[in-house]
Amino acid sequence: MELLSNAPVHHSVPERYVFPPDKRPTLLSDDHSPDVAFPVIDLHGGALPVSDHRRRHAAEEIIRAGKEFGFFQVVNHGVGECVVRGFREAAAGFFAMPAEEKLPYCSYDMSKRFRLATSTSYDRGETRYWRDYIKFRCYPASDENARHWPSKPSNFTPRLVEYSAAVHELAQTILCLIAEGLGLDGGFFTGDLSGGDTHMSINYYPPCPDPTLTMGLLAHCDRHLLTVLSQADVAGLQARHGERWLLVHPIPGAFVVNFGHQMEIVTNGVLASVEHRAVTNSAVARMSVATHVHPTDGCRIRPASEMVDEAMNPAKYREFAFSEFMEAYDAADASREEVLESFRINHE
Ligand code: OGA
Ligand code: NI
Repeated sequence: MELLSNAPVHHSVPERYVFPPDKRPTLLSDDHSPDVAFPVIDLHGGALPVSDHRRRHAAEEIIRAGKEFGFFQVVNHGVGECVVRGFREAAAGFFAMPAEEKLPYCSYDMSKRFRLATSTSYDRGETRYWRDYIKFRCYPASDENARHWPSKPSNFTPRLVEYSAAVHELAQTILCLIAEGLGLDGGFFTGDLSGGDTHMSINYYPPCPDPTLTMGLLAHCDRHLLTVLSQADVAGLQARHGERWLLVHPIPGAFVVNFGHQMEIVTNGVLASVEHRAVTNSAVARMSVATHVHPTDGCRIRPASEMVDEAMNPAKYREFAFSEFMEAYDAADASREEVLESFRINHE
């Protein structure tokens, strides 16, 4: 496998990474639209007591941001700076290892519990993406999950355990706030809806000699319930807002939060799963750590009855098992409309 993280420094973009002109990114051009920006929400250190008025305020802000953008950032979120830095360093250490150390993990077999791969993306097209990545189950730290984690670098596992536990707690706090903000029971997402193993993708984008020709990660929507992403201080993530791609401005220490398809379906379309992608840059390597909260495989997914009104606002999606959705997503190559189509109820 030709890992970008082990390639000699490229002085030009090899042909196989060059995108056709109509598919090339509008670079960070939307950078200069200061009129619109993804909201930044203060969580006041994490889980606030229900009686604290700041809690209601944060919940309202999340719902407002969720409805308008589907993407927002959280600060003062309660995950320690050293926990984030510690795990990011360990993960960067993994990509920096010599190719022979990483070889045992290289695989395109999606059933592998810890795998390292490069370039390809959901659409399995010919053109390559400027990215290496690892994917694995990061939480809970059960023996079943942990035995697949790499033994090197030696700080990977201990830092991962800390990071995943802290991000799990943050994700649960955000899910409670979402439920409260929507007028659902605070524990609505607790249990099967968020109780599957949490998956992690760590994306590594080396500096690219000509970012106008390449893409880091193709446009997609996330398939699960909720994503909590750390991009540290390097820009590259763009999310769709109307007809535009807006840059998610890096705020050191913040987490970017967005909704997966399951959130859109459960809220009957109120909190939509928004398309996003990653572009490259020529100056520095970028690494994003994406934590994906999943329902259990057998979880029955359907619009919450509180979000449905038979006369005024009927259910937009049928009921299904989460595992059925996972299969449809792979078959539809992550195309938003195609994947949702098979679950939609068409009302005349
Ligand atoms: C993802 C993702 C964006 C990024 O892993 O699902 O959207 O900034 N990553 O790397
Ligand atoms: Ni994503």
